[in-house]
Amino acid sequence: MNEFNVKSKIYFGRDALQYINNLKGKKAFIVIDPFMVKSGTINSITNLLKNTNIDFCVFSDIQSDPAIEIINMGIKEILKFKPDIIIALGGGSSIDAAKSISAFGTALRRVYEKHTEKPLFIAIPTTSGTGSEVTGYSVITDKKKKIKYPIYGEDLIPDVAILDPELIKTVPKAITADTGMDVLTHAIEAYVATNATDYSDALAEKAIKLVFKYLLRAYNDGSDMEAREKMHNASCIAGIAFNSASLGLNHGMAHALGGEFHISHGRANAYLLPYIIEYNSDLENSNYNYASKKYREIANFLQLTSSTVERGVVNLVEYIRGLMVNLNIPTSLKKAGIDKEIYYKAIPSISKIAMEDKCTITNPRSAKFEDVVCIFKKVYGE
Ligand SMILES: [Fe+2]
Repeated sequence: MNEFNVKSKIYFGRDALQYINNLKGKKAFIVIDPFMVKSGTINSITNLLKNTNIDFCVFSDIQSDPAIEIINMGIKEILKFKPDIIIALGGGSSIDAAKSISAFGTALRRVYEKHTEKPLFIAIPTTSGTGSEVTGYSVITDKKKKIKYPIYGEDLIPDVAILDPELIKTVPKAITADTGMDVLTHAIEAYVATNATDYSDALAEKAIKLVFKYLLRAYNDGSDMEAREKMHNASCIAGIAFNSASLGLNHGMAHALGGEFHISHGRANAYLLPYIIEYNSDLENSNYNYASKKYREIANFLQLTSSTVERGVVNLVEYIRGLMVNLNIPTSLKKAGIDKEIYYKAIPSISKIAMEDKCTITNPRSAKFEDVVCIFKKVYGE
């Protein structure tokens, strides 16, 4: 028996933020990064909260790749402030951090205060990438061990997701590119994952189509609000798809690569994506496995030439490489300036971490340690 559900209520389109005007509650705990405070983006939320007479407290210590120590600080603040609403405003890091802070803070309040009510959790993304606003994933980083831990729980899924494109129109080009490639990786991995279903496929397909139609437009002209809105929707739709179907080796390896070399999550995924598609397709053995057939389906619905499975896969990979070039993303780690000696030395340890990553489990081709090592070598380039 399979199951598919969407827990989060999704408000989208221009003026979606106005949802806050109708909020019922007394105290809102806002989780945000310092840039959102400095840039004044936070005012778009706090002004609405003032209108509704909701008291608020701002926790603005979030950094990219939120560390365990920051989560602990946030939990302490929650225990002091005792909110009935938690608002995460920002990119994946802020939303991921807020999920863990909220879940652990709520659990501790249950134990220490016998407080059984869960706060309303609202996620407001300011990038179009992680889909974190509708997923149960929270990626926390152990900075000392340089490991990213993806935590998953139904409890971590936000109650409300607000997708207002006004919040993303000033996202810089490089972040638009990287986060957009994250969306594409989510959708493609969900489409071929071992847990994929007709329901997740429908969403993944739509997200892939939206990325190919609108990512470059959003990248070339950040004020193209139609492209911004469509990419924001694509990010959320891909999030729903992979929350159900899960991800694969691409993310498992990207977590390890990004953790070790401080590469942004979306960019780490982009570097790997063409190689993972090639690996999963296993065209050398030309047995046309499940993954290669599904990649061909993607090529098909993108109207790329796909008269055979092989042509479909090859053209999809080429299409993705072309997109990366247009987004100014280097197509190898060598081109990205990573030192070869340091990188090769790290390959055994990051391969081990990638093998143990939860995302790797649902990859359509079961990867051995030597396979992962081989892919990491290929990604470096000649
Ligand atoms: Fe991702």
